Amino acid sequence: MSLTLAEVAAEAAGCTKCELAQGRTQVVFGMGDPSADLMFVGEGPGAEEDRQGLPFVGRSGKLLDRLMAEEMGLTRDHCYIANVVKCRPPDNRDPKPEEIAACRPWLEQQVELIAPAVVVTLGNFSSKLLLDTSTGITRLRGQSYPMAGSDAVIVPTYHPAAVLRGGGLQEAQMRSDLIRARMAIAG
Ligand code: URA
Repeated sequence: MSLTLAEVAAEAAGCTKCELAQGRTQVVFGMGDPSADLMFVGEGPGAEEDRQGLPFVGRSGKLLDRLMAEEMGLTRDHCYIANVVKCRPPDNRDPKPEEIAACRPWLEQQVELIAPAVVVTLGNFSSKLLLDTSTGITRLRGQSYPMAGSDAVIVPTYHPAAVLRGGGLQEAQMRSDLIRARMAIAG
């Protein structure tokens, strides 16, 4: 019998499959509606996420909440938010390939159990992982893709931290990606 999302989260809470386990305060598994049509996948927890145990609760998360509300009419309770790696990389460094590989089964179980219609990948790490490509986000974004092994559609967009750094054009492009995601949910 397959596990529930809460059971998988409880199992992940004790994960020691990679070295990120040593530096974390807690595992940031994900949050939101376990039967949501829409899932966001970011990169990995930052300092604030590690402290609170919740994804996207810092500055990037505030921007994500605002754009989600303005372009999709949704709050984070209507979707599910997760990351490629569930533990904070020290000093906010990029997750290493072996850490991404070790954490991947947790994300795969999340996608399988939530079974969203649309997965919005935020930035390079989640987009490259879920689309199994080395193409960068600037070229990937702007269209949707079928997700291998599932009925979901992937809509890649910028990571909100990149929008905070990049400014107007990237924000406008992220807004148009979120509209694409909203239309894909509506079918
Ligand atoms: N950045 C991410 O990629 N994920 C978070 O949860 C927070 C910031």
